[in-house]
Amino acid sequence: MNLDAVKERIGADPVALGLILGSGLGQMAEEMEGAVRIPFDEIDGMPQSGVSGHAGALVVGTIEGVRCAILSGRVHYYEQGQADAMRPAIELLAAIGAQSVLLTNSAGSTREEMPPGSLMALSDHINFSGLNPLIGDGGDERFVGMVDAYDPALRIRLQEAAMSEQIELHEGVYAWFSGPSFETPAEIRMIRTLGADAVGMSTVPETILARRIGLAVAAISCITNLGAGMADTNNSHAETLEESAKARGAFIRLVRAYIRSFA
Ligand code: HPA
Repeated sequence: MNLDAVKERIGADPVALGLILGSGLGQMAEEMEGAVRIPFDEIDGMPQSGVSGHAGALVVGTIEGVRCAILSGRVHYYEQGQADAMRPAIELLAAIGAQSVLLTNSAGSTREEMPPGSLMALSDHINFSGLNPLIGDGGDERFVGMVDAYDPALRIRLQEAAMSEQIELHEGVYAWFSGPSFETPAEIRMIRTLGADAVGMSTVPETILARRIGLAVAAISCITNLGAGMADTNNSHAETLEESAKARGAFIRLVRAYIRSFA
């Protein structure tokens, strides 16, 4: 279906906020009131995700009294080698009224003092992939400024939400590696030296795409493991899913409190 048909299905009221939820938070879409769910494969041009824990759908409804659109399931660069895979999805959020997006992900930590189970608001990122979702884009608008890419005012809102729920919210720099293999211990030592606090395989392209079209961005990492070589075990997707499930309760409380601040 095209944009007009999507708008007809979800209703004319603009959404206040878009949410792109990573592994583990898909359940928030099920908790929405009056939710209308449209699978990505029914919407023209939308990407298809094949990662377990990432079922692709647009879900529009109310959370904490705020009209929200959730992109449940994101598509990662490593799936098809497309850095701009989420472009139509992010443009759709803007087209149905979102003025800001909240991006969530699972990530590894480079800091012992930010262990698995920690939540971290992104203050900045390092695009270590060398990729960019705007390659091939035209016009001067492609030269997007990335100072304050993670909106300082939204970060304050996140901290206030965390405080109201008595949840500790770290802040730090997220480094994007393309994946899907995890980093090597040498890469983790390198990125730690360069100033990254967390590493992951998503979010950065979405932030760039969102900034390209003027959406304000807030983002939170759920730390599911220490970076490669920092613990006795090797990294695995099973560990990511297991640890994100453990942190889910606090994570959802934080996201709900953040959404409530838009009421
Ligand atoms: N590295 C990259 N991506 C991740 C990690 C990690 O250690 N943990 C969860 N996603």
